[in-house]
Amino acid sequence: MIKKIERLKGTSFSIILLLEDIEKLPAGRLTSEEYAYVAGQKEKLDKDLVILNRYDRLVVVQFIKKETYGPKRLENCRIAGDKIGALLNDHKIKEVVVDDIEGRPNEVLALAEGMELGNYQFLAYKKDPVKKKNTLDAVFIHSGKVSGKEIDMLNTRIEGTVRCRDLVNEPVIHMSASRLAYEMGKMGKEVGAGVEVMNKKKIEALKMGGLLAVNKGSQDPPTFTIFEWKPPQPVNDKPFILVGKGVVFDTGGLNLKTGTNMDNMKYDMAGAAVVASVVYSAAKAGLPVHVIALAPATDNRPGEKACTPGDVITMHNGTTVEILNTDAEGRLILADALSYARNYDPCLVIDIATLTGAAAMAIGKFGIVAMKAKSEEEFAELKTAGEKVYERIVEFPFWEEYGELIKSDVAEIKNIGGREAGAITAGKFLEHFTEYPFIHLDIAGPVWSEKKDSYRGAGATGVGVRLLFEFLRGKCRG
Ligand code: BES
Ligand code: ZN
Ligand code: ZN
Repeated sequence: MIKKIERLKGTSFSIILLLEDIEKLPAGRLTSEEYAYVAGQKEKLDKDLVILNRYDRLVVVQFIKKETYGPKRLENCRIAGDKIGALLNDHKIKEVVVDDIEGRPNEVLALAEGMELGNYQFLAYKKDPVKKKNTLDAVFIHSGKVSGKEIDMLNTRIEGTVRCRDLVNEPVIHMSASRLAYEMGKMGKEVGAGVEVMNKKKIEALKMGGLLAVNKGSQDPPTFTIFEWKPPQPVNDKPFILVGKGVVFDTGGLNLKTGTNMDNMKYDMAGAAVVASVVYSAAKAGLPVHVIALAPATDNRPGEKACTPGDVITMHNGTTVEILNTDAEGRLILADALSYARNYDPCLVIDIATLTGAAAMAIGKFGIVAMKAKSEEEFAELKTAGEKVYERIVEFPFWEEYGELIKSDVAEIKNIGGREAGAITAGKFLEHFTEYPFIHLDIAGPVWSEKKDSYRGAGATGVGVRLLFEFLRGKCRG
């Protein structure tokens, strides 16, 4: 948790002095020996991080690189925060103050954010979680330029990301579709937002053929969860809708995944976890924006009754789909949610999903593959939000011609294109079920990190939460 602190006098916390210019290093805070040491490290050895070990605490001097600007500058601060956090944990330190020496609120907040996000651990199944737990538990900000409100917003954004990571890291043995729906219900209760869980009967009644087809091989029923935050006086007349892929495990179905391709497929519900966490955060922050998360969920398995290549199914909106590969299941469950979204007369629908290996192959873990239809302005705003929080989106072409690749001989469309442009044909499949302004986000690349990736951690990164929360927050600024 990040908190504001007014006075440093009398505290014995470890301190991070954050500054760009060594000349600004305040006299009196360091002894002359310490000052000489810091200056030597900085000027002679070009070190940006200098650690002073006092007997009861650490004093860390962190220099911001002068020549970096904009988003990268803040990202460097987050990365530095993560590094310092690890150091503090090594020293079993519990509290730290980030001291804003030069009046740089954005940099200070970014450093604190990196420290908090980097401090995340998933210890649910460790034998001795207490022993393994990081000691750091409070980050204080000492700055005349950071408001309490900004700190609250940052804490909410961080909490949303952490909640998302927790959901995604949970293995499928504990995270069935029903459990995911239950967790969303709990989140809604915590923040006073509405949650409705539609069960298999309701899903059947609504003729959600895509979700039901993917669920056919499963032992567990599907769910479709609606998580709504409607504040008293929202800035938007029509709601924003966020649709998240909730495949709690993707074996591929009868087109079974091979080798190690299946290892981490518990993260195939990350889209659903993101949209749940974003609505949770929006409600917790009291954002005056009407936003609804839709989370269709099931596992995708081979089973006696499993949906089979060649099958033709009828979707919620009546479209017929030829299934040629049962591993292209995400688009089937999302498509039903997208046509259901129409009932809300939305101003914009954004879907977020670990949809295609092709997206990951194209740009790796460094960004989110994005496509847009009828949403120029909103897309530009989302892009700006992405730069700000460093969850960057990159636009792929979405030309009509790609739509030709999913036309079917026996049904209206088929669920795979061909070897080429796999991320785009998946997007085109989804677009078929929309007529409103629409943005598609494919997070297959950045969703997961095999080993610790700075403040994004190891395992689930929670990518998408900070992006969408910032986007919605931007909407509230008028
Ligand atoms: N969940 C996967 C996509 C995925 C793959 C995410 C690798 C992260 C890493 C999705 O359901 C899938 O299996 N897609 C297939 C589509 C193909 C059969 C057209 C893919 O990308 O291989
Ligand atoms: Zn799949
Ligand atoms: Zn999948």
